[in-house]
Amino acid sequence: MADVKNPNKHHKHHRLHALLIPYPFQGHVNPFVHLAIKLASQGITVTFVNTHYNHHQINSGDIFAGVRSESGLDIRYATVSDGLPLGFDRSLNHDQYQSALLHVFSAHVEELVESLVGEGVNVMIADTFFVWPSVVARKFGLVCVSFWTEAALVFSLYYHMDLLRIHGHFGAQETRRDLIDYIPGVEAINPKDTASYLQETDISSVVHQIIFKAFEDVKKVDFVLCNTIHQFESKTIHALNSKIPFYAIGPIIPFNLKTGSSVTTSLWSESDCTQWLNTKPAGSVLYISFGSYAHVTKKDLVEIAHGISLSRVNFVWVVRPDIVSSDETNPLPAGFESEAGDRGIVIPWCCQMTVLSHPSIGGFLTHCGWNSILESIWCEVPLLCFPLLTDQVTNRKLVVDDWKIGMNLCEDRGFVGRDEVKMSIGRLMRGESREGVRGAIGRVKMSLEGALKCSGSSGENLGLFVDGLVAKVGLSNGKA
Ligand code: UDX
Repeated sequence: MADVKNPNKHHKHHRLHALLIPYPFQGHVNPFVHLAIKLASQGITVTFVNTHYNHHQINSGDIFAGVRSESGLDIRYATVSDGLPLGFDRSLNHDQYQSALLHVFSAHVEELVESLVGEGVNVMIADTFFVWPSVVARKFGLVCVSFWTEAALVFSLYYHMDLLRIHGHFGAQETRRDLIDYIPGVEAINPKDTASYLQETDISSVVHQIIFKAFEDVKKVDFVLCNTIHQFESKTIHALNSKIPFYAIGPIIPFNLKTGSSVTTSLWSESDCTQWLNTKPAGSVLYISFGSYAHVTKKDLVEIAHGISLSRVNFVWVVRPDIVSSDETNPLPAGFESEAGDRGIVIPWCCQMTVLSHPSIGGFLTHCGWNSILESIWCEVPLLCFPLLTDQVTNRKLVVDDWKIGMNLCEDRGFVGRDEVKMSIGRLMRGESREGVRGAIGRVKMSLEGALKCSGSSGENLGLFVDGLVAKVGLSNGKA
């Protein structure tokens, strides 16, 4: 783990100045914030860029002010327009929001980069989902780094979309069911386990356009950083490395709550349920959250609510205000909360790491967002998987089929029934198979910890990446 207190204790002071630009969604901003701290702890100057909208939602001024004064890290903070007015409902108008990011955002980024080049910025680290990083970086003479915040497996599937097309597994009128066994470094995978966008027959959506362009652009960047762990995905990473310098430096999560908590990143205001959790027995509470982005149909949400009631389990349920839709304000069944009484609480948002690390949490019913998985492993909380879309579908396979640190909520992804929900909650929280899952997650956590040590794979990869940057920027003789 990087020494945040004294950034220069272990590392040379490079004259590197990196501009970090996350895709402006919660699940991307979070790992970028912690990457910023990691890089600054290596003696790199960082300028972190938030959109005006996210800055406004987070509502805490310069989010790094606390970290700077506590640890002296050189992390600066800038904001940029995403092209839409502040009052625009980005959740309700998802496609327009993504269109603005596809077509308009780069013009605003270019203006910002132009204004910062005079401050010595020489590296740009932008989210892989952007379609423009290599173009903007080249224009301003910056070294271009792409940060992939998800699993290497998902990156590899998108990266090899051409192979999927050739074999008729993508973009065809009919979905093929035979295994995909030709992606370099990827073990045979069932098409139903690929990212949801790769399974759709209509590939004309704005998100598809983004993915196509982004994965063309990433082929032109200098380095790719990935929020994964080498030991988890070594074959996939090895194969990718023959095409592009690809560094697994994860997990990048707020594991150091003391440092992490001084940076506020939540786009919704957090409820604190520590007092309530303190009253519950160890391992007795199911934490439920479907992340920051995806919506759940009202029908499924209602079945899940009934399943939770029937299971009689203690629970904390994060019901995001727009979980069904931002114009559907009260999606839970009438009387759900009063029937639960002291057994459970429903909140709009929380500090997830604080909740997951509380001793009374015994399971996590999750949509399988990559950050949530890494955080849950870190806190050794077994997972109950209910993937909704995008990479979450593939993440479920890793969690349940490969690493065996979780179970499925429903065997048929298309059908959510209250009785099955009740049974799977029981199995996760009290069943015999719980012990196997707990053992597995303990082992996976250990390899995560090992990777983060200076001599561990992520520590070493980070070092190699920084050396590569120094060489590429042409500072090899200019180290202080
Ligand atoms: C989506 C993708 O599915 C995910 O795989 C990708 O990495 C990012 O975008 P998202 O819905 O944002 O995911 O989920 P996740 O990756 O789990 O990220 C959510 C973040 O919000 C986590 O860091 C989690 O700690 C945080 N969170 C969530 C809170 O702080 N409070 C909450 O109440 C819920």
